[in-house]
Amino acid sequence: MNILITGGSGFIGSHLSEKLLNEGNNKLFLIDNLLTGSTKNIEHLLDSEKVLFIEHDVQDHIEIEEKIDYVFHFASAASPVAYTEHPVNTLKAGSVGTINTLGLAKKHGAEYFLASTSEVYGDPLVTPQTEEYWGNVNPNGERSMYDEAKRFAEAATATYARTYDIKTKIVRIFNTYGPRMQLNDGRVVTNLIVQALNNEDITIYGDGSQTRSFSYVEDTVAGILALMKSDKYDVFNIGNPNEMSIKELSSVILKLTDSKSNLVYKDLPNDDPKQRRPDITKAKENLNWEPKVDLETGLTFTIEWIKKELAK
Ligand SMILES: NC(=O)c1ccc[n+]([C@@H]2O[C@H](COP(=O)([O-])OP(=O)(O)OC[C@H]3O[C@@H](n4cnc5c(N)ncnc54)[C@H](O)[C@@H]3O)[C@@H](O)[C@H]2O)c1
Repeated sequence: MNILITGGSGFIGSHLSEKLLNEGNNKLFLIDNLLTGSTKNIEHLLDSEKVLFIEHDVQDHIEIEEKIDYVFHFASAASPVAYTEHPVNTLKAGSVGTINTLGLAKKHGAEYFLASTSEVYGDPLVTPQTEEYWGNVNPNGERSMYDEAKRFAEAATATYARTYDIKTKIVRIFNTYGPRMQLNDGRVVTNLIVQALNNEDITIYGDGSQTRSFSYVEDTVAGILALMKSDKYDVFNIGNPNEMSIKELSSVILKLTDSKSNLVYKDLPNDDPKQRRPDITKAKENLNWEPKVDLETGLTFTIEWIKKELAK
C-alpha cells in the first residue's frame, strides 16, 4: 500500500511509520512541517527507498501524483506548551489540514484515519469516558484551539464519510508517553522525568490530585494498527485505563529515577481537566486490543531513553 502520514516525523507518527515500514510492502509518504517533530525521529527510516519525507504544512494544498491507498492525519501540535505557542497553526492543522487531507483521500479513493484526542471530552463530567460521551469543552477557552479543532476534525471526517462515501476511522488517543517525546514541551511525563533525573524541584500543578491514564507508545500504536486493519469504520478510544493522580505518578518516577527532588506546587492552568480515564470496552471487543505494557515498565524504557538524550 502507499500510505501517507501527516505528522510522520512526530512522536507517535514516527513510531507508527516504523511499524508500517517493517510490515513489508508499504511505501510511506511522510508529510510534516517540523513544527514540533524532527527528522531525527525518522532518520533510521529515511535510508529506505520506501520512505519519502515531504516538508509541508497541512494547511496548504497537498498534491501527490502516485496513487495513495491510505491517509493518516496525525499532524498537529499536541502538548499545551506547543499549541499555546502555535495557536493558529494548531487551529488550522485540525480544521484546514483535516479538510485538505480528506480532500486528498477523496481524490485518491483512499481510506482515512484521523488522530483525535481525549481532549474532545474536555473536563469530563463522567468517568470513565466512553465513545458515546459528548464532552464538556470550553469553546473559546485557552485550550480551545486544540480541543475544538479536533472536534471540528471529527465533524469534518464524519461529514465527508457520509457525503462522499469515504471510508474513515477516528481514534481518540489518551495520554501517550515513550521515547521520542520532546523533552521540553511541558507534557507531564517528560517534565517529571527530566526534573527528577536532574534532581531539580518537581513541578506539580494544582494539588496533584487531578488524574490521567498513561499509555505506553507501543500499546497506543498497536491499538491504532488494530483499528487500521479492522473493518470497523467508527470512533474508538485508545489508551490505558490505569488512572492515577499526578502526585502518584511523581512518586513512581521519583522511585524509578532514585531522585532526591522535592515537590513544588504551582497554580493549575485554566481549563485543565480534573480527570481522564478511557473506557476501552469497545476497542477490546471489536479490535481485540488492550494495552500490555505496565506503567513501571513503560516508564523505565522512557527514563533510559531520556537519560541518553540528556547525555548528548
Ligand atoms: N501523545 C499524546 O498523548 C496524544 C494524545 C492525544 C492525541 N494525540 C494526537 O496524536 C497526533 C500526534 O501527536 P504527538 O504526540 O506525536 O505529537 P508531536 O508534536 O510529536 O507530533 C505532531 C507532528 O505534527 C507535525 N505538525 C504539526 N503541525 C503541522 C502542520 N500544520 N503541518 C504539518 N505538520 C505539522 C509536527 O511537526 C510533529 O511532527 C496529534 O494529532 C495529537 O493531537 C496525541
